[in-house]
Amino acid sequence: MKKFVLASNNAHKLEELRAMLETYGAQVISQRDAGAFIEPEENGATFEENSYLKAKAIMDACGMPTIADDSGLMVDALGGAPGVYSARYGGDANKSDADRVAYLLENLRGVPEDKRGAKFVSVITMLTPDGKKIVARGECAGRILTERFGTSGFGYDPVFYYPDAGCTFAQMSAEEKNRISHRARALQEFVKQAFL
Ligand code: IMP
Repeated sequence: MKKFVLASNNAHKLEELRAMLETYGAQVISQRDAGAFIEPEENGATFEENSYLKAKAIMDACGMPTIADDSGLMVDALGGAPGVYSARYGGDANKSDADRVAYLLENLRGVPEDKRGAKFVSVITMLTPDGKKIVARGECAGRILTERFGTSGFGYDPVFYYPDAGCTFAQMSAEEKNRISHRARALQEFVKQAFL
């Protein structure tokens, strides 16, 4: 069985990627369980760069095949922000997902529905100690609502409306989200390159 370390301390991401990769017969363990307690700096300008930086730092620390996902939300009316800064949107003033969602809604106040387009992006990088590298990108388009709906998922899920499903990511079951999300799409692309 294939075994990968996930370069992340985000429990939600671990659960999502674990559930998705299990269906391909692969096992995902957390970086902590692999003995890597560091938090690599994400100072790249793109999802690709950050995803590589995380995978490289954790692979170097634990010496096992490692996958990293760098993801974020790009909002058209904000020129693609928060983008690679999604986890830190608004800086130290915003300490929680709820703070960051409130900040996003504030920044989009008064923007009409047809200008609230946005997409989630995920870039997965896998590196192995013997020098293999796979990079896979997935995107999922929707729009930002003016208030929150639903309680599942994490991050910006409650305000991200996905037209094909007619609801927000936070109103979907984990299984539904894992079928269509940006991470699911990046992972499908990853699996194509890695296993097929
Ligand atoms: P990363 O850990 O640097 O990749 O940060 C990703 C950030 O983007 C998260 O902290 C969330 O704010 C946001 N994000 C990424 N994927 C999702 C998702 O599936 N739902 C909601 N927010 C997400």
